[in-house]
Order: sequence, then C-alpha cells, then structure tokens
Amino acid sequence: MLSRILITGGAGFIGSHVVRLFVNKYNDAHIYNLDKLTYAGNLENLRDIENKENYHFIKGDITNQELVNEIFDKYKFQAVVHLAAESHVDRSIKNPNDFIQTNIIGTLNLLNAFRKHQTDEGLFYHVSTDEVYGSLGDTGFFTEKTPYDPRSPYSASKAGSDHLVRAYGHTYGTPYIISNCSNNYGPNQFPEKLIPLVINNIQNMKKIPIYGKGDNVRDWLYVEDHANAIELLFRKGKRNETYNIGGNNEWNNLDLVKTICRKADEKLNRKQGTSEQLIIFVSDRSGHDKRYAIDASKIQNQLGWTPSVQFEQGIEKTLDWYLQNKEWLNRIASGEYADYYKNMYKNI
Ligand code: NAD
Ligand code: TYD
Repeated sequence: MLSRILITGGAGFIGSHVVRLFVNKYNDAHIYNLDKLTYAGNLENLRDIENKENYHFIKGDITNQELVNEIFDKYKFQAVVHLAAESHVDRSIKNPNDFIQTNIIGTLNLLNAFRKHQTDEGLFYHVSTDEVYGSLGDTGFFTEKTPYDPRSPYSASKAGSDHLVRAYGHTYGTPYIISNCSNNYGPNQFPEKLIPLVINNIQNMKKIPIYGKGDNVRDWLYVEDHANAIELLFRKGKRNETYNIGGNNEWNNLDLVKTICRKADEKLNRKQGTSEQLIIFVSDRSGHDKRYAIDASKIQNQLGWTPSVQFEQGIEKTLDWYLQNKEWLNRIASGEYADYYKNMYKNI
C-alpha cells in the first residue's frame, strides 16, 4: 500500500478537491500537500480537513530543486499526484515565463527527486489538460493518440511537462500515469476563469466580457468528477499510460454564459434578462483555441468511469456555492486571503 503520498498544488481549485478526497479515503496513508500559495492557492479551501491527522501541509515552491529534494529525502514519498501549475491561459499570454518555470522546471524537479527513491509500486501521476492536443474544428474529438499541438504558452508548458514525464518513464523506468482533462467547474475556482468570473460579475452587476463572438466551444466537467477520476486512476490505472477525462458536455461560451445568467436571475429574484444585459463582446484572446472535445472512452471502457454529475445539477451546485460563499469571493477580490495563513506555516 502507498502510505506516503505527495499532492502538489493542493491549495488550488482542483487540488483542494483531490486532497479532500484522498485525506478522507486513505485513512491509513499520510497525505502531504506541497503548495507555494500563489495568488491561486488558498488554504481556506481545505479548512474542513486541515486538522485531520493524516493531512500535512508544506509551503514550498516546486521550482526550487533543493527544497524539493529536501522534502523528498525527508518524507520518502511513494507516490506523487502533481497538480501544481500556473493554470490560466490569459496570464500565460501576458507572462509566459512563470509558466515555463513552474510547469516545466517544477515538474522536472519533482521527477528528479522522485526518481531517487522510486520503486516499481510507486507512482508519479501527472494531472494535465486536453489543451495539449490543440484545437478542433466543428467535428471530432481528442483521443489519447491525438498528436500534441499546443498553441498557447500555457498548453505548450503542459505539453512540455507531459513529455518529460513520459521521457522519465521511458528512460529511467519512472512509473507514471498522465491524465488529460477538459475544462473543470465547481466550488473554489479562482474567479479569473470563465464560470466563476461570470457568477462574480453577475453578483456585483459588473459587465461580463465575452471574447470574440462567444462561439468557442469547451467541454465542461464538474470538479468532483475529475477528482474521482484521478483517485480511480491512482488506484487502478495502468502504469505508463495516458487517459483522457471529459464531461461529454460541450457548450459554446455565449450559450453557457446566457444559461448561467438565466439561472442566476432566478436565484437572485431578479427580473429575467437582468444579468444577460451585462454581457459585452470584447476583443478576442490571441490564438484563441476554437473547440476542445474529449473522447473519454478509454477510462470508461477500462475502469467504468463516467461523469456522475449532469451539467444541470453541477451548475446549480456551483451557483449555490458562490452565492452562499460571497465572503470567499470578496476576500479573493481584495487579496485578503493571501495574508490569512501567512504566519501559520514556515518553509521547511
Ligand atoms: P489553480 O491555478 O487553481 O491551482 C494551482 C495551485 O498550484 C495553486 O494552489 C498554486 O498555489 C499552486 N502552485 C502554483 N505554482 C506553484 C509552485 N511553483 N510551487 C508550488 N505550488 C504552486 O489550478 P487548477 O485549475 O486547480 O489546476 C490544477 C491542475 O490541473 C493544473 O496542473 C492544470 O494544468 C490542470 N488542469 C486544470 C483544468 C481546469 O479546468 N482548471 C483542466 C485540466 C487540467
Ligand atoms: P477559461 O475559463 O480561461 O478556460 P480555457 O481558456 O482554459 O478554456 O476560458 C473558457 C472559455 O471562455 C475560453 O474560450 C475563453 C472564454 N472566456 C471569455 O469569453 N471571457 C472571459 O472573461 C474568460 C476568462 C474566458
């Protein structure tokens, strides 16, 4: 049994759901969360489990090889679930360098440290994105065999880190799994990403910016379904293989935003159409990928995984969470949360 598990990026959006699942499910294992607490990392996401005996937080930066080595030498992790990353495409367009540092160099550092202690039973699990496959036209789906064609600095950095993981598997026998997932939504997502940004702006009666014509298409998956897929692959996935994970739930941005507006008006007892009036069309994102769509039949056929949360239900849960957690959003908007735990944890 794998009893010392490192999860990186556990204070972020998806990472916090993965940490919660592992801490609650693996009572006999120790779960270590290594996170730098960038603007996107927020330990408030983990308040409900932070006092559990099998949960440990380490504040640290994966771009620092010395620090990473020190942590691995000390705790001798048998498995790593690697989520820490710079994750927002628009930020990668403005400042690609951080993405190369964290996503590529950070992954390299973790692989180097893991390799020193690796065993055949161990696992380096890399959480990646469908964006590495590039952009689709009106038809077709990404499969695990689709050639890589990353087109933003973010997706190029994730493609680079995927390649490194596979290269370590091939060259040094590092046991790995990679999963490439479509767009996630749900509680605790930083409000720079489309869905929480829209909900936040609706609440504050601020304009909702739609890039271009709003006809770009994304496949949306509820975050807990992604966390469940990761945990399932962690236990049962075949070593040195890749799995696509998706929601089978394609929306063009404009239809998605209008749907959220309608539902929000209902919940906020506003006159129908109030929120939709906030929509404005703004200049398109540079190099904006047209469509992402996932063929998730491999994980379905091998392990029986399918999304359990239908979009109707998932978006209701998400809206309810943001409407009930206004303080979480307000603290993020004010930057206050970043100071919250500042003095509680020291770098080791
Ligand atoms: P996020 O931006 O919400 O969280 C990233 C976390 O990583 C934060 O807690 C941050 O503090 C931490 N981090 C960043 N740089 C670090 C560093 N140098 N050292 C240590 N920690 C650092 O991201 P997310 O949306 O939860 O995505 C998590 C992972 O899943 C990423 O690897 C991303 O590429 C991948 N992914 C995301 C989506 C999505 O829709 N959000 C879809 C598919 C895959
Ligand atoms: P985003 O949540 O940034 O995810 P990704 O770019 O990784 O798919 O964006 C989702 C889609 O929404 C994407 O097509 C860009 C678009 N978008 C807007 O139209 N307006 C916005 O303010 C944002 C943040 C995104």
